[in-house]
Amino acid sequence: MTKFIIANYKMNKNFDECMDYINTFKNFRLPRERTVVICPPDYVLDNFASVIHKKKNCFVGAQDSAIERDGSMTGELSATMIKSTGAKYVILGHSERRNKLGETSGEVNKKVKLAVEAGLVPIVCVGEKLEETKKRKSVILNQLKESLKGVDISKIIIAYEPIWAIGTGKTCDVKDIQFVHQYIKSKLSTKNNFEPVIVYGGSVKPSNAGEILSLECVDGVLVGGSSLDPYEFYKIVKS
Ligand code: PGA
Repeated sequence: MTKFIIANYKMNKNFDECMDYINTFKNFRLPRERTVVICPPDYVLDNFASVIHKKKNCFVGAQDSAIERDGSMTGELSATMIKSTGAKYVILGHSERRNKLGETSGEVNKKVKLAVEAGLVPIVCVGEKLEETKKRKSVILNQLKESLKGVDISKIIIAYEPIWAIGTGKTCDVKDIQFVHQYIKSKLSTKNNFEPVIVYGGSVKPSNAGEILSLECVDGVLVGGSSLDPYEFYKIVKS
């Protein structure tokens, strides 16, 4: 089965830096068993989509989308606008938005539904804070229940990202990754045995990607810092 390797540039790179990146990355041969999703800043979504559209297993995604379908939302980009750029994915409910911008799971739920309606695949992020480690099962389950209320899980990707591991260099132990992924799968698998797709995020780098990706219950990785250099990111793609 294909494993997802997702790059999240966050609020990094100006236009020229983005174009240098994608013009380098487009020449890399991607392994058939990988699906690569690159999520740059919104202003290059259509540029990126047109550069990589010939690559079979490489796609573009946004890092967020608006909570409303259209209308008076100055500065926002709707799911249908994102879709119209050629993007196929959108990261929603990233912990930086939940914690720095106060985004709630209820709001994430609205965005997820609009994204699915627009034909995008939402990558829905959940994860616990360090001080919530002991009760992480209930923290994660609540985030999932509220963020995914009324959502067909076959249409989304879940990203498990322990908050203390994001951008810190501290990776979650593989046993813990396995435990949480299996827990989510056991809670969300549907009656017809459809298992949700779950990727891991939090300080994934070339030195640990291989071990994480070798876990059967891990369907891919979401990469922040180590996705900012195309050569570094490519090492993860090949892991
Ligand atoms: P990181 O970020 O790889 O820099 O830890 C991951 C993320 O926030 O998605």
